[in-house]
Amino acid sequence: MKQSFTKGFLTPLPVFIIATYNENGTPNAMNAAWAGQIGGSQLSLSLSPAHKTTKNIIANKEFTISFATKEQAEACDYVGIVSGDKVPDKLEKCGFTVTKSDKVNAPVIDQLPVAIECKVIEIQEELGETRVVAEIVGMKADESVLTDGKVDISKLHPIMFDTVAKCYREIGENIGGAWSIGKKFI
Ligand SMILES: Cc1cc2nc3c(=O)[nH]c(=O)nc-3n(C[C@H](O)[C@H](O)[C@H](O)COP(=O)(O)O)c2cc1C
Repeated sequence: MKQSFTKGFLTPLPVFIIATYNENGTPNAMNAAWAGQIGGSQLSLSLSPAHKTTKNIIANKEFTISFATKEQAEACDYVGIVSGDKVPDKLEKCGFTVTKSDKVNAPVIDQLPVAIECKVIEIQEELGETRVVAEIVGMKADESVLTDGKVDISKLHPIMFDTVAKCYREIGENIGGAWSIGKKFI
């Protein structure tokens, strides 16, 4: 029998690392799980207005998001614990280096194999949150995670955030084709 709860949650939540430039040109990054894709070419972020990243996005209107990976999980967690406002060299502290994107005024983290380049479309201040809607204008992907010219999730090892256990989990095996395995009922 199902029990009834007053609150719910969505899973999986992603683990995105948002990278921006500070006003003095140094890079910053934070961990964001309350985020998602909207249609084919947009995404949304739900940010606390207090974060350095939020202020940078409002100022620059451009950023990158990289997928956190199993290999870099500790560094990805670290950038979600400390603020660039208090620790200006937080990227150096966890071993992240950056290369400037050629499409947006934002850093691409060298140690994370895939980065999505984004330009802000809309910023809403609502219920104490800063909600950002952005257009995906490009992507950088290391050759090491490509198969036949496409990003191969089994090589990338992206992780998800488990909002119930408050931990990171690996994303699992391919268990069947989309728009395909259900055809057995046709
Ligand atoms: C797993 C995880 C997920 C997080 N998701 C979000 C999020 O979606 N939105 C948000 O505003 N902060 C989120 N945070 C908190 C920020 O990453 C954190 O406060 C960070 O230190 C902000 O850094 P900054 O001030 O340098 O931008 C998350 C932290 C962790 C560890």
